[in-house]
Amino acid sequence: MRMYDLIENKKKGMALTKEEISYMVKGFVNGEIPDYQMSAMLMAIYFQGMNDQEITYLTLEMAHSGDTVDLSPIEGIKVDKHSTGGVGDKTTLVVGPVVASLGVKVAKMSGRGLGHTGGTVDKLESIPGFRTAIPRDEFFDIVREQGIAVIGQSGNMVPADKKLYALRDVTATVDSIPLIASSIMSKKLAAGSDSIVLDVKTGSGAFMKSLDDSISLAEKMVSIGILAGRRCCALITNMDIPLGYAVGNSLEMTEAIRTLRGNGPEDLTQVCLELAANMLHMADKGSVQECREQAGKAIEDGSALQCLAAMVKAQGGDENYIWEPERFEEAKMLYEVKAPVSGYITHMDTEGIGIASVLLGAGRNTKDDCIDYSAGIQLKKKYGQRVEAGDVLAVLHGSDQDRIRAGADKFLSSCAIGDLAPAKEPLIYARVSDYGVERFS
Ligand code: URA
Repeated sequence: MRMYDLIENKKKGMALTKEEISYMVKGFVNGEIPDYQMSAMLMAIYFQGMNDQEITYLTLEMAHSGDTVDLSPIEGIKVDKHSTGGVGDKTTLVVGPVVASLGVKVAKMSGRGLGHTGGTVDKLESIPGFRTAIPRDEFFDIVREQGIAVIGQSGNMVPADKKLYALRDVTATVDSIPLIASSIMSKKLAAGSDSIVLDVKTGSGAFMKSLDDSISLAEKMVSIGILAGRRCCALITNMDIPLGYAVGNSLEMTEAIRTLRGNGPEDLTQVCLELAANMLHMADKGSVQECREQAGKAIEDGSALQCLAAMVKAQGGDENYIWEPERFEEAKMLYEVKAPVSGYITHMDTEGIGIASVLLGAGRNTKDDCIDYSAGIQLKKKYGQRVEAGDVLAVLHGSDQDRIRAGADKFLSSCAIGDLAPAKEPLIYARVSDYGVERFS
């Protein structure tokens, strides 16, 4: 077999066989297939796509390219969730403890932020002492005892995705449905949970900007999960507007804690309750409606917040930060971005707002960059709201003038203000499961 022929076939729109996909993934991981050939293949896949069978073969081959986790030593149904990535998306920090406090085990491997999107591991590491690299036995013990542990993906899991993602990131091939579906699902399958709830983001801050593409991505991922013997469903949620009001690591931790106290922003609370309800439903805790009520109660009675504090303590973090989030260090500089004119906020380019937060120091431009946990954006106004000239749109948190200036320019150019109030956007568009697509708007 020659990689050249595989590229040629895919370039012409032909389907790759199971054997060809296996040859390609193995050869790329062990270094026999060079980056330049894989780059050509990625671009051919980007333009020609893959059929469902090819996507499934690619996902399974990637999932088994390194270590996999067997969660069977932990009793009960283990539930995982995954977001396709967004701005202000701190849902794992809320739904994980909600679900775990109701007796469903969450053994979660999360990622770091890359590009304009944030990552749960970075947010948790803003708590002093919190460890996200934990030996497997200890990880299992924490899940057994606290119901939840959240760690980074360990060393040799899904090396095919690590290499492929790095290449996609520099070859403009990230936003491809077969490549996103195989990347996400290979990691979910390798992580070993029985049930998987996917949060597929749609809109200007998501990798999939259109609703149709997001639904199509969700359908592919759900069908891969089910084919691999897992329970799986997806919610399609709005990422045309940042989720909640906080963007940046410790700012988002604080907002997640507020949400677990029952004082969170409405949009974030609603998305979290819906995700938690679906995770509980997938763990046989009742109908989605019953599970939504249980999730609401776990927030109301404080048991979910207690669960987050217990997890933080077990993972070496200072749990006082959960009870007193004002302990999080404040950025050296705060800067108010003001509305240049009066009107309604008619558009928020959410990817642009994510980039503004990276410019402030909250994210990385390359994977080795250091991040400033205190940096980020506290929104004061959002899409649809009326503002008068001079009103504060957002407070930027940063460490120096240059970063603040760059962040402010990017933020302002990401917000449009017009004369007419825009139409309200739905928060949750659809649910995709083995029953098909259920649209809510
Ligand atoms: N998140 C992933 O893990 N992979 C992708 O390809 C896109 C988002």
